[in-house]
Amino acid sequence: MADPILVEPELNQYMIAQFKQFHQHPELCSQEQWTSKTITAELKRLGIPISSYPIKSGVIAEIGQSTAGPIIALRADIDALPLQEETDLSYQSKIPGVAHACGHDFHIAALLGAAKLLKDQEGQLSGRVRLIFEPGEERHVGAKEMIQAGVLKGVSAISGIHNMPTIPVGTVGMKVGKLMASNDNFDVTITGVGSHAAMPQTGRDPIVATANIIMTLQTIVSRNISPSDRLVLTIGAIRGGQTNNVIPETAGFKGTIRTFSAADRALAKKRFYEIVDSTAKAYGQTAAITWDEGPAPVDNSKIMTDLIAEEAHKFMTVIPAIPSNADDDFAEYEQLVPGCYAFMGSKGQANLHHPDFIANPDGLQYAAKFHEQAALTLLNYFNQKGKVD
Ligand code: NI
Repeated sequence: MADPILVEPELNQYMIAQFKQFHQHPELCSQEQWTSKTITAELKRLGIPISSYPIKSGVIAEIGQSTAGPIIALRADIDALPLQEETDLSYQSKIPGVAHACGHDFHIAALLGAAKLLKDQEGQLSGRVRLIFEPGEERHVGAKEMIQAGVLKGVSAISGIHNMPTIPVGTVGMKVGKLMASNDNFDVTITGVGSHAAMPQTGRDPIVATANIIMTLQTIVSRNISPSDRLVLTIGAIRGGQTNNVIPETAGFKGTIRTFSAADRALAKKRFYEIVDSTAKAYGQTAAITWDEGPAPVDNSKIMTDLIAEEAHKFMTVIPAIPSNADDDFAEYEQLVPGCYAFMGSKGQANLHHPDFIANPDGLQYAAKFHEQAALTLLNYFNQKGKVD
């Protein structure tokens, strides 16, 4: 049974207050100026120096005086979503149309709490802990920007959490290997020839072509991917035409593909292009495809995950994580250094990305303790064993 008091009550109160403050001031992807300024001020107040990197938003800081030992990175994403909050919280979003509906406010507060825990034992750290407050996760640009800026330089391993409203407070979901899906987004425009709706023979109808393409794309899942594999192809928006009696010149659609295997990801993309191009051609039309390649699957290192799980087990309940078809650009870091991403219980109200989502702040102390213990465990491991591939 987990101990209900893991950190000093003052620290717990501090994290809850920070959580509420960030909840009230959500900022969208790559616009996290207030958030970054506030995190910077809090870290400085804790006596933690800010590291200088060429980044537009987000904050990097480091704890530890040893320049010889390993560096372990802890990451929290900090951006919000373009949603109108529909909770009855006393600390609702003050920004119309923007809400922390993915609980990244929880992530900021937990990492600030962990920063305090680690700062308090800085003299005993056998290396350094690099805190990455990452902007722009929701459109999967943040991790790439951070990596390009050099934040992984010298880092031996990385750990992070996502709050999970389907898991009770005091429980963490962990899994070795693939935890979250890859994410590719597409936008297709089919161009035909517009005409009078009553004289279709004088045009080339892009709506009929688009409808056919959308249906045929579903055969990627049903006919190309092995039934034992997992792949989602969703069209989330279609467009074309404005009125009853006109065949438009263009039509289009956009959507996403999620999967857990590099081979399936490549196959799905190849079949997508073949189906769209050849079906458009069959209708005497052309297709323009915009392909936005998002993160690979979140893929947890066995060694890092097992080590952290063993430690977490001492102060909270560890359960096997159920893989999620959502993506997270934490995967970008894990492509370069071994890592562990975990689902931290935050059972509150509604699910992630819902307007009435609430992350339960009672989970903050577990999240902060988890970060702290992950950092200490990995520092210890790399001190003893050296770098792992
Ligand atoms: Ni999120």
